[in-house]
Amino acid sequence: MGFKKVAEIQEFAQIEKKLIELDNEKILLTKVDGDYYAISNKCPHMGGSLYKGTLRDGIITCPRHGAKYDAKTGKGLGKPKILFLEFKMENDRSYPVKVEDGAILIDIDAK
Ligand code: FES
Repeated sequence: MGFKKVAEIQEFAQIEKKLIELDNEKILLTKVDGDYYAISNKCPHMGGSLYKGTLRDGIITCPRHGAKYDAKTGKGLGKPKILFLEFKMENDRSYPVKVEDGAILIDIDAK
């Protein structure tokens, strides 16, 4: 199916992150350092919504137990320990993003 339009650039004048639902996937779209990134919205720990977390300096913090992820790649930062238990991180949690004519497009099939 390829790239699908999910947002307009102008929306990000007011916001820095947006929750996208595309083909039953929930995706966190962010603007970091002037570029746009898409990662799975689901925290690998216990499924927290990263959209509801805080985004600062390109790092998204899960609102449930505080695990931190690189908003550009979705990779976990450090070894998250929640209640002294480490949990497994998936490495590739990002989706390709491109901008065309003021629109932001995501390809969720390319994963
Ligand atoms: S659900 Fe995200 S840190 Fe626990």
